[in-house]
Amino acid sequence: MLDTPNRVAVDAPALSDTDAAGGALAASATAGSPAVRKPKLLSVADAKAMSLSDMTEMFKDHINPGQLHFMKLLGFHKVKIETASGMYYTDQNGRKILDFFGGFGSLAFGHNHPRIIAARKAFQDEDRHEIAIAFMSQYASALAKNLAEIAPGDLDMVFLGSSGSEAMEAAIKVAERAAGPKRSKVVYAHNSFHGKTKGVLSLTDSELYRGEFNLTGNTVKVPFGDIEAIRKAFESDPEIGVIVLETIQGGGGIIEAPVEFWRELRALCDKHDVLWVADEVQCGMGRSGHFFAFEKAGVVPDVTALAKSLGGGKTAMAAMIASRKVYMKAYGTPKTAMIHAQATFGGIGEACVTAIEGLNVMYDEDLIGNAERVGGYLIERLNGLKDKYPQIIKDVRGRGFMVGLEFQDFSQTLPALLRPMVALLDDKLKGSLSGFVGAELFRDHNVLVAFTEYNRNVIRLEPPLICGREHVDAFIAALDAVLGRGIVRIVRDFIGSQAKK
Ligand SMILES: Cc1ncc(COP(=O)(O)O)c(C=O)c1O
Repeated sequence: MLDTPNRVAVDAPALSDTDAAGGALAASATAGSPAVRKPKLLSVADAKAMSLSDMTEMFKDHINPGQLHFMKLLGFHKVKIETASGMYYTDQNGRKILDFFGGFGSLAFGHNHPRIIAARKAFQDEDRHEIAIAFMSQYASALAKNLAEIAPGDLDMVFLGSSGSEAMEAAIKVAERAAGPKRSKVVYAHNSFHGKTKGVLSLTDSELYRGEFNLTGNTVKVPFGDIEAIRKAFESDPEIGVIVLETIQGGGGIIEAPVEFWRELRALCDKHDVLWVADEVQCGMGRSGHFFAFEKAGVVPDVTALAKSLGGGKTAMAAMIASRKVYMKAYGTPKTAMIHAQATFGGIGEACVTAIEGLNVMYDEDLIGNAERVGGYLIERLNGLKDKYPQIIKDVRGRGFMVGLEFQDFSQTLPALLRPMVALLDDKLKGSLSGFVGAELFRDHNVLVAFTEYNRNVIRLEPPLICGREHVDAFIAALDAVLGRGIVRIVRDFIGSQAKK
């Protein structure tokens, strides 16, 4: 019997092995008073039928009241999504929203890809076990095998988890153990983002997120893509054993280093016996036009991590993939194996099925090739707008469907009469056009884009890899229409819309 405080003791009959789970308890509950008084719970049907205002109130009361502030700035607080399919969300009013945000890279397959849905439904109908702790799972084994097959070199050993942060925690742990206690210092980059759990927070370069948490101190920060700074660090500090870098910085504003950087990094790591951990949580899974973004440079890290789209846009799935050599050094004996064995939800059945089907879809539908081709087209069209609006667009960068659009910083050039009004806005918006343009794309053109953690002048475009040229054309037409109004009107309209709320 469970002994939760509000439980009333009952002599529950022993469950026979033919009883459906809970059958005996349900029988005793109907015979007399229930064993435990049911709290006032909402049902799934209640959730489905919930109004926008109730949903908002509950979000405010129980999830994150402060976050609502940002939703209001962008107009997201008026939206209750009812369905999502392919490149589009549909809201409670039947409004279709074109998704160029893609859940920060979590929706490679678009919303509700039919093959992924079918694989999940088939699995549900088979009465399979989900939790793969006592017994192994053929699905976890198959997913690990697939990832090892895709990953280059000897990146063969896979840890399955459920978030990017968890995969990155596993990555720094395996590297730290393989490097050994005398080489425990970790190099990370300026403007990095590796997650918000406490271990990886030490390697996430955000004062806001790090706050006053008590973090690991044995880290060394270098500018992203600066091989000389890394060389200097490696040469001057023999305790450095690991370097952790996003291959393309997402939160930093879609920042890349040239292929030579990665080649020199590989050589430098080999020379100094430092392990390279490549964070591919956002840029991996085909988004860059390669399965792993580091493949463009033709080099292989010692450890990498995937998440986001690995869950097929339907579930939480993440993987750390280590080279066999690194893995065996860290956890290769029966004595060390359990230091690392998966957490409760590692390799959970339906999530593995989803990821396996997703990986197959990725190749069957040539989504990586599509990302390269149509992503290239997107960049070309954005460069066309940059030529048309040089006073508004400062830079277009990235590759595949990991694209950054940087606006000019207008904080100094804005007409004097608008400056006091802009000064009243949130810090996140001051001096930045990305918030205004994003909000107006959404309000007037039903297009969703993403913002960037550390560079408020950058809009991040990470549409699903199924995105076609027609979607790019629709997006560019919308952006053209917004930018064509000019900075002053964009800002004035935005401020006006805020005042009406
Ligand atoms: C590069 C990178 N690493 C790690 C993470 C953390 O992933 P998660 O939010 O799934 O914990 C993210 C999330 O955005 C990311 O972009």
